[in-house]
Amino acid sequence: DITKKIELIKKNIGLYPDFPVPGVSFRDTFSILRQPNLFNTLKSILIDAVQTHFMEAECIAGLDARGFLIGPLIALELRLPFIPIRKQGKLPGKVTSEGYTKEYGKDTVEVQTDSVTPGMKILVVDDLLATGGSLEASCHLIEKCQGDVIGCLVIIEIESLHGRSRLHVPIHSIVKY
Ligand code: PRP
Ligand code: MG
Repeated sequence: DITKKIELIKKNIGLYPDFPVPGVSFRDTFSILRQPNLFNTLKSILIDAVQTHFMEAECIAGLDARGFLIGPLIALELRLPFIPIRKQGKLPGKVTSEGYTKEYGKDTVEVQTDSVTPGMKILVVDDLLATGGSLEASCHLIEKCQGDVIGCLVIIEIESLHGRSRLHVPIHSIVKY
């Protein structure tokens, strides 16, 4: 059942202490992708989560870079459009931008303006919720384009960082630490 599947995924997420900087423990989802059976299990958990919590989604938006690993997987399975939210300077055509502050320095996310139809119900996906800065900026970005963010779906949530409190939409995480 689903609880067993989630336990299996949790057990197989890689852990790298002191990466990328001392004191930070890096949770690595690539360990799942190199085992096709586990990747398939993860896929079924994600699809189930969307169908349970975000039924009304009309579009999946994924964050550069690791949100791109799961966003298109979900979008294709559910026959929904996928739109990429990228770090600055990577997307051609007219883009909308949103700046945000990270632990060290600033960053900017962008979306192709015409990829968001006003009123479109969009589910935003990423691999991990830490401080919430990336998802917060991405949600603002979509709203700037008049998209309707219905929620966020992540594989991993680092609860001690309270990223959830920065987001004003429903958040669903598969695995919590
Ligand atoms: C990581 C992770 C999330 C984000 C979470 O991405 O993939 O996107 O950090 O952190 P936050 O909640 O504190 O914003 P990163 O910016 O390291 O880049 P990558 O996905 O391109 O590897
Ligand atoms: Mg990322």
